Parts: sequence; C-alpha cells; structure tokens
Amino acid sequence: MKNLIDICDMSKNEITELITLANDIRANPEKYAEKCKGKKLATLFFEPSTRTRLSFEAAMYELGGNVLGFSEAQSSSAAKGESVADTVRAVSCYADIIAMRHPKEGAPLVASMTAGVPIINAGDGGHNHPTQTLTDLITINNEKGRLTGHTVGMCGDLQFGRTVHSLIAAMSAYEGTSFVLISPDELKIPDYVREDMIEKNNISCIETTDLESAVPRLDILYMTRVQRERFFNEADYIRLKDSYILTPDKLVSAKPDMIIMHPLPRVNEIDVSVDDDPRACYFRQALYGKYIRMALILNLLGRV
Ligand code: NCD
Repeated sequence: MKNLIDICDMSKNEITELITLANDIRANPEKYAEKCKGKKLATLFFEPSTRTRLSFEAAMYELGGNVLGFSEAQSSSAAKGESVADTVRAVSCYADIIAMRHPKEGAPLVASMTAGVPIINAGDGGHNHPTQTLTDLITINNEKGRLTGHTVGMCGDLQFGRTVHSLIAAMSAYEGTSFVLISPDELKIPDYVREDMIEKNNISCIETTDLESAVPRLDILYMTRVQRERFFNEADYIRLKDSYILTPDKLVSAKPDMIIMHPLPRVNEIDVSVDDDPRACYFRQALYGKYIRMALILNLLGRV
C-alpha cells in the first residue's frame, strides 16, 4: 500500500495485519519508540479537527518521529489561492508522509497524484474517512472479539457523515454483517453507498427513522453528529440537529453486550449520562485511533 485514500484500498488481510500491529504497539510501546526516528509527518488540515490531527501527531511522536503542518486553511497558502496539487508537491520536499483533511471530496486523491510521499486521507468533505474507519474496526474487533456477524446500527446524519460511508464500505466485506440505518428521511445514506456497497454485496439492511425500536436487535450502535458544515441552509440544520438523543432509558432494551460508538465530536446526540455505561466505548475508541495510526504510519513508511 502506498497511500490510504479510501478504505476499499485495503484488503481484509491488510486490515487484520494492521490491527494486529496496532495491538502489539499498544502492548509493547517501547519496541516501537524509535521506529520513525528522523522521519517527519506533515499534517495538512484544511478543515477543523481535534482527534484525527492530534492522534496522528501523537502517533508520530510515539514512534520517535517529528511533525509539521497547519491546522487551518487560512494559515496556509491555500488562502492565497494555491492548489492542493502544488501544496503537496512542495510539502513532499519537507516531509516523508502526509495526512490531509480537506472540505472537498476527492482532494486527497488529487494530492496523491502529485505528491512524492505517501498521502493519508484524514477526511474529505462528506465522502470518506478511512483512518476513522480503521479506528472503528480495531474498536469493534477488540471490544466484540471479532469483525464478523454483527448487526450494526448507524444513527444520525447518514447523508453527510463521511465516517458512516467508510464504515459501511468496510463492514460490508465481513461475513454476517447486517445494517440498521436510522436517520431522518432527509439524512439517509447517499444512493452510491446503498447501491455500490450494500446492495452489490447482498447485505441485509433496514432503513428506519425510529431509534428506540431498532435498539434491541443491535450488536453495535454507531451514533453520529448532524454535520452542520455540510448544510446549505442553517434552518434545516436547526430543524434536524436534535433528531436523536441517546439517553439511558433508550438503552434499557439494548443487548447487555451491545457497544455504543461515536467518532466524536458529539454535540447533543449522546447524553453525558450514558458515558458511565460500560457499553459506551467512544473514549476508548479515541485511544485506539492513536495505535491504529501508529500502525498505519509504520506500514506506509515501510518500517514494519
Ligand atoms: C469525524 C469527522 O471528522 O468526520 N470526526 C473525527 O474525525 N473523529 C466525525 C464528525 O466530525 O462528526
């Protein structure tokens, strides 16, 4: 693998290997502390981020490498009108690997065509977010013991939520996966996700607007934020933003071993009173994100 632009760039075997490596890093961090000595990661973030950028940076530091970059488009030459292709071509002179987030769908793919170093898509518009998906997969694997045979409920903004699109693509490859897609009618998954991933793979899938009646059948409940920045109209956002709020009473009928995930940041969609439920694993999920990114950097730099 040279770049990670789309989760479909990785085979199931490659994903399993990456999870195994991430778990070894987690268990034996000292073994990896100097693996990227002398190497530099550039984080080019044209859109806001907390976990993705900081977990990439922490990952590189914990591998003994260094980090450079910017965290907003306004502080880069994009503000002067520079193209993404030119920016990454220049940054390839300064860094050994680039993690990039951009509001335009496809920007990291374009970047990978001119970059001289590996490009990692750290989120492109409402399209994809493959490293969040790797984070989600290691979380599911470690918390549930396997990646096969799960009924996965995804709730919230399924139209614009890029983490949802990438996770559906990835989970569709595992035997026995079925989906329950819970959203307002206006925020259903895009047709290309339904057709190219779910229908093409003959995956069982139910679409509903009702969270409470869906909960009892789920092995995994993946909550998401309504993606305000992707709306054309603020009034629509305000009308839809609180469509689902997970509270302890809605979990009474859930399976005792159902896990509750969220890519974070949350706004209102999971009440803080749920955080103490042992099934809530979104902060553990954030930690797994660092280990899987360490494994990914090692892999792309050929330092495994
Ligand atoms: C997600 C994203 O950026 O798409 N955040 C993240 O990377 N953990 C989810 C979101 O912003 O809602």
